[in-house]
Amino acid sequence: MIKDLFIRKTLAQLEIQADGDHNSLKRHLTAMNLVLLGIGCVIGAGIFVLTGTAAAIHAGPAIAISFVISAFGCMLAGLSYAEFASMIPVSGSAYTYGYATMGEFIAWIIGWDLILEYLFGSATVAVGWSGYVVSMFSDFGIEIPPAICQSPFVFDTNGWHLSGAIINFPAIFIIAVMATLLVIGIKESAKFNNIIVLIKVFVILLFIGFGISHIDVQNWQPFIPENTGVWGQFGWSGILTGAGVVFFAYIGFDAVSTASQEAINPKRDMPIGILVSLAVCTVLYIAVSLTMTGIVNYKELNVAAPIAVAIDSAGKSLLWLRPIIKVGAIAGLSSVVLVLLMGQSRVFFTMASDGLLWESFAKTHSKFKTPHITTIVTACFAAFFAGVFPIGLLGELVSIGTLLAFIIVSIGVIILRKSEPDAKRGFRTPWVPLVPILGAIICFVQMISLPSDTWIRLAGWMLIGFIIYFTYGIKHSHARKNRKAQGKEFQFIRENPPNRTS
Ligand code: ALA
Repeated sequence: MIKDLFIRKTLAQLEIQADGDHNSLKRHLTAMNLVLLGIGCVIGAGIFVLTGTAAAIHAGPAIAISFVISAFGCMLAGLSYAEFASMIPVSGSAYTYGYATMGEFIAWIIGWDLILEYLFGSATVAVGWSGYVVSMFSDFGIEIPPAICQSPFVFDTNGWHLSGAIINFPAIFIIAVMATLLVIGIKESAKFNNIIVLIKVFVILLFIGFGISHIDVQNWQPFIPENTGVWGQFGWSGILTGAGVVFFAYIGFDAVSTASQEAINPKRDMPIGILVSLAVCTVLYIAVSLTMTGIVNYKELNVAAPIAVAIDSAGKSLLWLRPIIKVGAIAGLSSVVLVLLMGQSRVFFTMASDGLLWESFAKTHSKFKTPHITTIVTACFAAFFAGVFPIGLLGELVSIGTLLAFIIVSIGVIILRKSEPDAKRGFRTPWVPLVPILGAIICFVQMISLPSDTWIRLAGWMLIGFIIYFTYGIKHSHARKNRKAQGKEFQFIRENPPNRTS
């Protein structure tokens, strides 16, 4: 029945799922842990790799304005995430919010779409990590053979062809290490993340602090280089295109919401985790981009390690900072891989707990109390994609998937205000429906600026998702089974004991 496709879970049912003895995950995360998880997931390849290219090709020094625009779109979506996260303390992020507002089928679409953000995201950043590690080894005179540190496939204007390499081994390695940490425990993972975040923020502050005195304001003249006549090459269109490119740098603040079921006080702390991490990263990004384009002319920044180039051009006095920046980038990228893998495994776990994916995915480890099966499955797929595919292709899929999730969450807030107007909210998105509508529009504009190939891949991905839903999910959905059994709305009675471990 079509109506059954949109079967919903009520907030009361979600509360039971989160706080009854159904929660087989452990609540260990404080507000500070959540903020650091957000920063851990956000600051990565975007600032350490993409900023330079975006400045050199699209926006010039005005890349700082691109960061502000992109942050504005993310902040609007973040406000919607914050309201949901303060109401629904269940892991699963946008997938769970979709189940509560638009029903099972839309929830499935979001859950499937989130794979693009988290699973493909972790693969993308692992490839970036590999690049930085290879370059650092090279600085020390150790050359890793390209055959084992590059993608065997290349995708460019001539289509697909072979690169001659066999596999990107370092990318697979970092995924394996981070997944092991996640299986061992959320507390241990959070501790590791906290240390890494401190290192990467410290390194960024060093760059800003020491870089400021080397800024030559001539490099900011003109701050907005004149458009070349082609849309997206400088001028205001360049700033907008730049905003689309650096959007990747903000991806990840929403991953905080996948850890709702492991937060000690999710209703209060989730909005703090989401919004504070986003705000901190925005300030850092603007400062880094201004410093970078102030030290070196933007035309020289079209490289894989733009911060290193900026340091080189500042002269001998800053050379000591070069290896430190690389260490910071390597550390930074590893925590992004960690949190994205964590997000994906929690989304799979929640979908399986609802019966939409295989029952075994909803198990937690008897000793570590982590969703070890989904973590391992996620890591295997991420390692495969990271080992085999080029970074550009993966990155575009991540952006389109994330933007779609942001749109659905924004619309969801408007629906939830109508369907559950009196429910207690730890945080209220201001000016509803204006803020969510604006958020959805900005995300949609960014989506349509992505290449048509990416849209085709998104459609193909969704098709695979529909096949799995209609051949498996629809038959095993707990919500449907319960409705059928009881002839009424879903009661959160599951077929198997929920606290099972293996
Ligand atoms: N925002 C993350 C990064 O830039 C995905 O690496």
